[in-house]
Amino acid sequence: MMDMLVNTFVLPQFLIMFVLSFAKILQAHNAPGAENENDLLLCRQCGHQITAANNLINVPSPLAVSYWNDTILDTPEVLVQLFQNPHGNRFEVIVVDKAGVYNQGQAVYKDTWFPGHTWKIAICPRCGHHMGWTFEAIDDDVDDTGKKKNAFIGLILSHLLHKDYVDSLLIVPKAFKNR
Ligand SMILES: *[C@@H]1O[C@H](CO)[C@@H](O)[C@H](O)[C@H]1NC(C)=O
Ligand SMILES: [Zn+2]
Repeated sequence: MMDMLVNTFVLPQFLIMFVLSFAKILQAHNAPGAENENDLLLCRQCGHQITAANNLINVPSPLAVSYWNDTILDTPEVLVQLFQNPHGNRFEVIVVDKAGVYNQGQAVYKDTWFPGHTWKIAICPRCGHHMGWTFEAIDDDVDDTGKKKNAFIGLILSHLLHKDYVDSLLIVPKAFKNR
């Protein structure tokens, strides 16, 4: 569906330190739109807040390779869909109706995963890492700011970080300290 390559990336140590300090900041100041830090989905590359659990929606696609329900951020029955692009890359995707992403390039209809919807590449506004795609209904109205009213964002599960994962990271630096 798109040309961007998905690289497996290794967490460098500085990022682990960064995530640790980020987790501390989150404890002090909850981000707007989220009830607490446990509800946040963050960019896996830089820790930027991408969205919150209360923005999760289920939008089934007839083009999913497979799909299942998962519990994400304590929200049960979140629809996870596996999609494949024309290059053979596969992505596990969840859908939200709001996300702090930057949409890149023109809307494209070819190879869309949601019939009737165009897609644009959605990237992290802080680090530029690929987060997913923004889908817009072709026949949808635009609001006052020129945005399509019923747009939704498909986020790549493996490119996100959530609080449980950050907690699991807290174990790593302690091991380093004892050396
Ligand atoms: C997921 O949960 C919803 C809501 O309970 C249900 O309608 C749907 O059939 C479930 N889907 C799968 C794949 O289990
Ligand atoms: Zn980022």
